[in-house]
Amino acid sequence: MEFSHLPVMAKEAVRYLGLRPGGVYVDGTAGGGGHLLEILKAEREAAVIGIDRDADALKAAAKAIEAEGCKDRVTLVKGNFRDIKQTLERLGVKEVDGILLDIGVSSFQFDAPERGFSFRFDSRLDMRMDQTQGQSAYDLVNGLDKQELARIFKIYGEERFAEKIAGAIVRVRETKPVETTGELAEVAAGAVPKRFHEKGQHPATRIFQALRIAVNDELEGLKQGLSGGYASLKSGGRLVVISFHSLEDRIVKENFRYLALDCVCPPRFPACVCGKKAGARILTPRPVTAADDEIRANPRARSAKLRAMEKL
Ligand SMILES: C[S@@+](CC[C@H](N)C(=O)[O-])C[C@H]1O[C@@H](n2cnc3c(N)ncnc32)[C@H](O)[C@@H]1O
Repeated sequence: MEFSHLPVMAKEAVRYLGLRPGGVYVDGTAGGGGHLLEILKAEREAAVIGIDRDADALKAAAKAIEAEGCKDRVTLVKGNFRDIKQTLERLGVKEVDGILLDIGVSSFQFDAPERGFSFRFDSRLDMRMDQTQGQSAYDLVNGLDKQELARIFKIYGEERFAEKIAGAIVRVRETKPVETTGELAEVAAGAVPKRFHEKGQHPATRIFQALRIAVNDELEGLKQGLSGGYASLKSGGRLVVISFHSLEDRIVKENFRYLALDCVCPPRFPACVCGKKAGARILTPRPVTAADDEIRANPRARSAKLRAMEKL
C-alpha cells in the first residue's frame, strides 16, 4: 500500500521551528516523511533525525527521502518519542536545535484495513502503532473488565454512553470474543439509544478513538516526550507540537505554561519560596490552526492545533 498522508500545517511547523543552517532537528513522528522533507527543503544545511514507532511508516519515509536525494542529511530510528533523550544519547547527540511532534495516527495507518484502526473496514481489532509489542485493541476489548473499559471510553473518548457500551461488550463476550472492528462498531451502535446517534458520526467513533489512545498509551507517552524533548533542546531550541484532540492539546498547553512560569508558589504567599525560574518562552499564546484552504484540501487539518515554545 502506498503511503498517503498530507502533512498538516507544514509551513507553520517549519516557521515555528526557526530553522538555522547547520541545525540538527528531530521529527519525533516521522510518518511518511512529509514534515521531515519540508524541514530539509526549507533549510538545505539542516540535518534531521526521524523517529517513528511504526516500521511501515519508516520504510515509507526512507523511500520518500531517497527520492528527494536527501538521504545524507537524515537518520531514521524506530522508537517511541517518549524515549527521545535516550535515543539521542544512543546516537551520540547531546542537544538539538528543534523538535517536531505531529501526534496521533497517520492516514496511512488509518486507511490500512489490516491495521485494525477503523470500522470503515471489517478487520481484526489491533490499533497498535508498533505491531511488534504491547497489547492490541483485541486484547483490551476482550480482556479488561467492564469498569476498566467504561473508564477508558469515558476518559479518552469522552463517551457519555461509556457504561452502556462496556456492558454490551461484556455481554457479547459471554458467548464469543469481539474480534473485528465491524463487530465492535455494531455492539457500540446497538448500545447507544437511536435518538442519540449523531448525524454524520458513527456511534462507535469515540470508543475507537479511546481504544487507540489506550492501546498506544498516547497521553502518558506525550507527557514523557514533552519532558524528554525539553531536556534534549539547546538553549534557544524549539519544540513544536501539532495535536488533534483536546486531551492532547491540554497536556501540551499545561506543559508549556508550567515551563514558562517564573514561580509556582500559591498566590497567598507574600514572597516566592519555590525558586522556580522560567525555562521556556511560549511562541504561540493561542494555538495556531490550519487555514481554510488547507482544511478544504485536507479535512484532517480541521481539528489540528499547533503550539510552540523556545527553551531559554
Ligand atoms: C500524524 S502521523 C505523522 C505524519 C508525518 N508528520 C508526515 O508528515 O508524514 C503520526 C506518526 O507518528 C507516529 N507516532 C505516534 N506516536 C508516536 C510515538 N509515541 N513515538 C513514535 N512515533 C509515534 C505514528 O506511528 C505515525 O506514523
